[in-house]
Amino acid sequence: MSILSGKNILLGITAGIAAYKTASLVRLFIKAGANVKVVMTPASKDFITPLTLSTLSKNPVHTSFTNEDEEDGVWNNHVELGLWANYFIIAPATANTMSKMANGVCDNLLLATYLSAKCPVYFAPAMDLDMYKHASTLASFKKLKSFNNIIIPATSGELASGLVGEGRMAEPKDIVSFLEKDILKKLPLRNKKVLLTAGPTYEAIDPVRFIGNHSSGKMGFELAKAAANLGAEVILITGPTHQKVTHALIQVIPVVSAQEMYDAAHLHFKDVDIAILSAAVADYKPKKAATQKIKKKDTTLTLELEKTKDILASLGEIKEKQFLVGFALETNNELENAKGKLKKKNLNLIVLNSLNDKGAGFKKETNKVTLIDAKECVTEYALKSKTEVAIDIFNQIIKQIHA
Ligand code: CTP
Repeated sequence: MSILSGKNILLGITAGIAAYKTASLVRLFIKAGANVKVVMTPASKDFITPLTLSTLSKNPVHTSFTNEDEEDGVWNNHVELGLWANYFIIAPATANTMSKMANGVCDNLLLATYLSAKCPVYFAPAMDLDMYKHASTLASFKKLKSFNNIIIPATSGELASGLVGEGRMAEPKDIVSFLEKDILKKLPLRNKKVLLTAGPTYEAIDPVRFIGNHSSGKMGFELAKAAANLGAEVILITGPTHQKVTHALIQVIPVVSAQEMYDAAHLHFKDVDIAILSAAVADYKPKKAATQKIKKKDTTLTLELEKTKDILASLGEIKEKQFLVGFALETNNELENAKGKLKKKNLNLIVLNSLNDKGAGFKKETNKVTLIDAKECVTEYALKSKTEVAIDIFNQIIKQIHA
């Protein structure tokens, strides 16, 4: 799966003959699983039609500040476009547009979007060889690089003028792989291994019955996705859930009981950099699971339960370089109890869920967490989707690792 999958890519097209290649570029981005929007300079419409690009990108193409086709003149919001984008790629980037970008000129929608965009900006120059070598063009490159814009270098070859030299826009497939490599290289959890536990555990009473709980596994799966999107290799040990995930960087290890989860976690722990234990592990299990189905002979049935092994605490005891994160679900004295668990289980960070918070906890799409680090520094977060909470947790981990 491409790292571009699910990403929002804004393609800016300027008026160079290489604009005809952007039809393939849009196709390749879509094939990689990205969402694509296109913004064009007015003059670039002479080289490729907005209709071609809107058909391929499955989104309207914007070429001016107002939508000329609409009688009421709908305003195209450059700020929104800029904020929507995860990556802004200007290809082809002409000498004219680059010079304007370098000097803050803002006389078309593409340039206004460029000035509003907060995301990484890539530009793929395309022009004739003498223009490419001109001191003015080189000055634009230098200035744009100083703005942290990333150049996708032009290649050498036959140019539209018939001359041969440097100035040909990188081929669409090379633009895509340049982007993929550059993004991967900069991911904060690249070359890191993350171990996660998720979901409930089932403790057998007999061959057909078990002691379980209502954990959906959603939080753990969102953590796995967030880690993989940040470039980590993920080992996701999960109890029985309906959650699904397919990602090249995520290895799913299904388990059923607390003992199986314990064994799998210990097997992998020594190789990982970060371990987050979000599973709702059963604290007790039947002392002896019946080998045959228990018949309903008596009016009462007594099960003798014994404690399961505390996976988190056991990893805390053997941890070396690993950054260890636990969860605490509390109903009262929340902060105090969570801080107690942080110390007792030798953790680097604890994620506190309070059952008193509406929208937090089991089977919910949302969660409200408080993070407490090893120095007992407390950070409270608002109620958010579990996807966003997972990102908050990793941002905090990354901050702590680099502290
Ligand atoms: N945990 C674990 N193995 C267990 C029990 C819990 O790894 N057998 C982990 C959970 O995944 C979670 C953390 O421990 O990250 C907190 O679990 P919790 O049940 O809240 O804490 P306990 O220490 O079991 O204390 P109590 O139930 O008394 O609140």
